Amino acid sequence: MYTSNSGIAGAVVLITGGLGAISLTYAKQLMSHGIKGLVLADKNIKNSKNIIMELENHGTGDVIFVRTDINIKDQLENAFEVAVKKFNQLDIFINNAAILNESQWIKMIQTNFTAAITSNYLALKKYLPKYRNSEEATIINTVCISSLIPFKSCAIYSTTKSGVLGLHKALSNPYWYKLYRCRFLALCPGLTQTPMLQQMGSKGIDLDLFDEECYDYPIQDPERCGDCLIEALKKGKNGSIWVCDDKIYEWIIPDRFEVGKSTKAK
Ligand SMILES: NC(=O)c1ccc[n+]([C@@H]2O[C@H](COP(=O)([O-])OP(=O)(O)OC[C@H]3O[C@@H](n4cnc5c(N)ncnc54)[C@H](O)[C@@H]3O)[C@@H](O)[C@H]2O)c1
Repeated sequence: MYTSNSGIAGAVVLITGGLGAISLTYAKQLMSHGIKGLVLADKNIKNSKNIIMELENHGTGDVIFVRTDINIKDQLENAFEVAVKKFNQLDIFINNAAILNESQWIKMIQTNFTAAITSNYLALKKYLPKYRNSEEATIINTVCISSLIPFKSCAIYSTTKSGVLGLHKALSNPYWYKLYRCRFLALCPGLTQTPMLQQMGSKGIDLDLFDEECYDYPIQDPERCGDCLIEALKKGKNGSIWVCDDKIYEWIIPDRFEVGKSTKAK
């Protein structure tokens, strides 16, 4: 039986944006930690067969791909249905699909924020409580360092990621935990060498402004994100936020009442 406290072995995991660069580092790590099943949901189908074969070399679990546009609710729900029909189990959901396109910001809000709410709710309320094979399920949101420190050059993208971080904080409230026994973890990668970063020149972003604000930021290898996922899954408490910016560490938000106590009233 899979137990989220003792490890990842035996879990069934669904990842949106499953064929993306960061997702693939998650997938490799999860497979090598002995998960039972992995469902990759992505609107892109390029190389899906080769990717599945490659991933299956990393462990004994089964990997399946479901073509899914997360902006279409029926397709999103279908990805969950395919997962539970195949494995009759679902323990971990990773909301990871996103785009970075400041010119198409309405579509970006839809993909990064609205669809994130839909998928978090489907996982939290409908699928994980019924199909988890453990005392506690886990929802992971891939957010971004820009949800903590917004980028002026990617203002709307940063805002969508701040929105998802807000959702993570709200849904990790003990009220929801008592109802659904679901732990929330947020991962905040820093700049990571993936197609998303490589293609930003054509996505309505002022590259001079971006270079000026990020010139001394490290650009990490995507593999660090896989390491961060495992660290968070093994050590992360409900509601915790994990930064992966070459280094991996937990981001602690001070308690507002404690801050209030130590601040002189005016
Ligand atoms: N690359 C970075 O510097 C960086 C930094 C911080 C956070 N992130 C976050 O990490 C996550 C993964 O990004 P990545 O860098 O691996 O990018 P990526 O472009 O390699 O992966 C994103 C994946 O999402 C998929 N996708 C996009 N829209 C979709 C939709 N409507 N339905 C289903 N799938 C869709 C794409 O096809 C792609 O496979 C994103 O949430 C991103 O915001 C990336």
